[in-house]
Amino acid sequence: MLNTKKEEPAMNDLCKKEDVRLLVHEFYAAVRKDSILGPIFNDVAQVDWDAHLPIMVTFWESLLLKTDRYRRNALEPHLKLFKEIAFRQEMMDRWLMNFDATMDSHFQGETAEKAKDWARGIAHNLQRQIRKQGGLQIKEPGG
Ligand code: HEM
Repeated sequence: MLNTKKEEPAMNDLCKKEDVRLLVHEFYAAVRKDSILGPIFNDVAQVDWDAHLPIMVTFWESLLLKTDRYRRNALEPHLKLFKEIAFRQEMMDRWLMNFDATMDSHFQGETAEKAKDWARGIAHNLQRQIRKQGGLQIKEPGG
């Protein structure tokens, strides 16, 4: 008997720079359209996307492809942002939801899973630092 079941083409894992570039660009395309995150990135932080996207490619390449080229302070822009607006859990939940969805629609494998775990771990650390900093917030003179 003929096997009529169509084989789905297996999805690849992330293994090269173009993969990371695709992930990052697709992820931030989703973030920009997200009803919660879009206004934060576009209107509050007024992100210069031409500058931000290459930084994010370097960041994820560093972790996933072990290039070790990211040498910046990832915490700082978040602390700055969450002095301007209050941090809400749903913001981070949305970030992670978009990240997982982007990953799952393009890649599958060990590195893809590791990336989602890393994102959660980093999100957890960022939240901890944001809350800690928020608790110690000092008002700017005249602010
Ligand atoms: C509530 C969730 C988050 C929000 C609203 C947020 C927002 C931002 C903003 C506004 C910037 C500055 C962009 C610019 O002006 O260039 C930034 C930078 C960055 N974010 Fe996030 N972020 C979130 C979560 C995360 C998570 C979970 C990660 C990592 C897994 C992450 C990694 C980074 C990195 C690496 C940078 C670049 C820092 C630098 O080198 O300048 N963010 N983020």
